[in-house]
Amino acid sequence: MRPSVYICRSIAQEAISLIAQCCDYRIWNNDQPVPAKILEEEMKKSDGVLTTLSDQVNAAFIAGAPNLKIISNMAAGFDNIDIGEATTKGVMVTNTPGILTNTTADLAFALILAASRRLMEAEKFLRNGQWQAWEPMLLTGQDVYGATLGIIGLGQIGSAVARRAKGFNMNLIYCNRKRNYQAEAELGARYANLRELLSLSDIVSVHCPLTRETKGLISYGELAVMKPTAVLINTARGGVVDEDALYEALANRHIFAAGLDVFSEEPLPLDNPLFKLPNVALLPHIGSASIATRTKMAIMAASDLVAGLTGKLPRNLVNPESYKR
Ligand code: DGY
Repeated sequence: MRPSVYICRSIAQEAISLIAQCCDYRIWNNDQPVPAKILEEEMKKSDGVLTTLSDQVNAAFIAGAPNLKIISNMAAGFDNIDIGEATTKGVMVTNTPGILTNTTADLAFALILAASRRLMEAEKFLRNGQWQAWEPMLLTGQDVYGATLGIIGLGQIGSAVARRAKGFNMNLIYCNRKRNYQAEAELGARYANLRELLSLSDIVSVHCPLTRETKGLISYGELAVMKPTAVLINTARGGVVDEDALYEALANRHIFAAGLDVFSEEPLPLDNPLFKLPNVALLPHIGSASIATRTKMAIMAASDLVAGLTGKLPRNLVNPESYKR
């Protein structure tokens, strides 16, 4: 019998065709997320499910899906899935690392430049008809070239940002769960603890995953040790930064600016006070959003889904214990 698959969003046709070759599939053919209730019901009937980062796959959904063998998440991050429950139930979980590294690093660097040089503010100023004359100190920001960049999480994306920073003659410091000696040698990055990194950096860029340990990692105390000229960038997961603390730091000018592509609640509610601040550049989670990369992510997620359902080892298994089971 052909495996039964549920696809949670409209994705690239190449990816759907891959799945269609050996599975029967149903799809939430929409750009908006599938409602949680429908996802739960669909999972009950499925051997495999292809999810995106905005589909919350909690323990109850997994426990209630008797035939489920694999959840293939079209994202590098997988904090939207209860990995513990999946592993206990022998359900494989896969992600799409690597292929989005450079696209996401490009976006992080775009935010570094936008927040430091006040690009969003300047564009708005121009469009609003406020530009009267060239003024010596009009919309002046912070230099990026030659600045000190602190990278929190020197994994694939953090390292790709560091490589871009070399072209801007930046000094690199990083903190990480483990020291990355190869990156230290290749990039000339210096290892520091979090507090030291925050107090020395002109620009801090967050690239660690969201886990129990990193939730709220940057909060009041951490922002307080940053320089008043410093800029904070987050393209990882919103939950790593305490948004209330960040709002206060930006509103009171304890730090200079921020650039955010991710939020603890997505989409960012329109009444979020961050919208009122001029010194924060806000983007709607588009780190990996190039046509080529999003297509590759869909194909990678589809290939792993098919592998898992046809008895092969998926390439990007995040819980290998489940495969053994
Ligand atoms: C991911 O893949 O985890 C990014 O946040 C979105 O591409």
